[in-house]
Amino acid sequence: MNQQFWQRAIALLVLPLCLLGSWVLPAQADGLDPAQVQEATQLWQTSAHALNEVNCSSCHEASDTNEFVARPGSESCQTCHQQDVDTFLLGKHGIRMLEGDTPLTPAMARLPMQPGAMNLQMTCNSCHDVHAVNTVQAAVDSCLTCHSDTHSLNYENSSHAALFAADRSLPRPSAASVSCATCHLPRHEVGSGDNVFTQVNHNNTYTLLPRDRMVKDVCMNCHGMEYSYNSIFDDDLVEANFDAPPTLALETFEMVRAFDERRTGQGDS
Ligand code: HEC
Ligand code: HEC
Ligand code: HEC
Ligand code: HEC
Ligand code: HEC
Ligand code: HEC
Repeated sequence: MNQQFWQRAIALLVLPLCLLGSWVLPAQADGLDPAQVQEATQLWQTSAHALNEVNCSSCHEASDTNEFVARPGSESCQTCHQQDVDTFLLGKHGIRMLEGDTPLTPAMARLPMQPGAMNLQMTCNSCHDVHAVNTVQAAVDSCLTCHSDTHSLNYENSSHAALFAADRSLPRPSAASVSCATCHLPRHEVGSGDNVFTQVNHNNTYTLLPRDRMVKDVCMNCHGMEYSYNSIFDDDLVEANFDAPPTLALETFEMVRAFDERRTGQGDS
């Protein structure tokens, strides 16, 4: 059994499985709007959390003092999702928090950002609606609430986006489609035997450096190596978010082919 499994199992056992009714009262006493409580409840009801008995108190109760917390932060996720928090803190999105600074906001960015998003803080809640935890919404729509550079805006016109749009009705983005997250928060398998599951690497800098890391980790799950390299090293195609097949022909591949031909030629004679 892996560590995360036990962390989750223990967290689920020790946290009181409070019934909704008994929770809602203290919430209202704390000045929460009943309409918000109702909305949160509705979003939560069909979520992966509700199915796995992660209740209101799992997040809204401080683990040390058992006190009610109206607006929990990322530490409420950490008990059960250590890997996601750890990787988040290593990328551009999270690194300020690792250093004990205030969260990143679009106002601090060098890249173009949506004007209405300038003061949004980057935490787990920025991409995940914490009550619905819908990962389809998190994989593209959430990114575009902040990002507005040409590459990001062009995604919509790509055949990758068409693949993604085709399976929006699934509970999780399908592995056969390509979202922003497929390239920038790639999935990886952990565990072994009967206990293999998929995790998401939340370090959004990881696949950018070095530039061709994305080729091996992402593109080559679906495309050949040459096609992938020729796409990634074509700045215009990256800017267009891969809306057409690559036209670039990297010299290295030409050289390898020429070398192969020479060698085969020599072998023949
Ligand atoms: C997975 C963790 C988690 C669970 C489960 C959860 N919440 Fe929340 N909730 C949060 C976080 C985090 C925030 C703060 C969001 C923010 O700051 O934007 C929050 C905020 C709220 C708010 C305030 C909303 C606002 O905009 O001010 C209400 C009301 C609420 N939750 C009710 C509930 C109820 C009722 C349940 C159970 C049906 C529940 N929550 C289950 C994490 C959770
Ligand atoms: C008490 C443990 C617990 C806490 C606290 C918790 N989660 Fe979860 N979470 C789970 C379990 C269990 C699942 C379902 C199994 C899985 O997908 O890994 C899950 C699934 C998820 C998923 C995937 C949803 C899907 O449809 O596949 C997301 C996203 C998520 N949690 C985000 C959060 C965020 C953000 C917080 C903090 C605000 C949080 N969780 C707090 C236990 C928890
Ligand atoms: C709350 C706003 C916000 C959301 C939501 C958001 N980002 Fe960002 N992201 C930023 C900011 C701010 C930066 C820093 C940009 C800069 O410094 O110019 C950034 C940087 C990045 C970078 C560059 C990383 C680097 O090391 O240079 C990538 C890639 C990225 N985001 C992808 C995504 C993806 C994919 C999503 C959705 C899954 C997403 N972002 C959601 C605000 C956001
Ligand atoms: C930049 C947007 C973004 C931020 C910030 C973000 N997530 Fe996610 N997260 C996603 C997306 C998108 C997926 C689904 C990707 C997929 O399935 O291909 C996901 C998947 C998950 C999952 C399910 C997969 C897994 O690894 O178990 C969990 C749990 C999760 N996130 C927790 C968190 C927590 C905790 C935080 C805060 C540290 C966080 N996320 C911050 C975008 C984000
Ligand atoms: C098929 C893979 C792929 C998809 C899909 C994709 N990107 Fe990118 N993204 C890249 C590559 C490759 C780069 C460029 C890396 C470089 O310039 O070194 C990049 C660069 C970026 C950067 C800027 C990095 C910088 O510092 O200039 C941001 C921000 C970003 N992407 C956000 C997004 C968002 C948001 C989406 C979805 C709307 C998205 N990307 C979809 C592959 C992808
Ligand atoms: C999950 C599988 C998958 C992944 C991962 C993936 N692609 Fe694709 N890609 C596709 C499919 C399917 C098409 C559509 C092919 C078609 O329409 O004939 C496509 C189309 C393309 C196109 C041509 C677009 C057009 O309109 O003709 C380019 C360029 C491309 N991908 C580059 C990349 C790069 C670069 C990466 C990695 C950063 C990548 N892809 C990752 C599946 C994937």
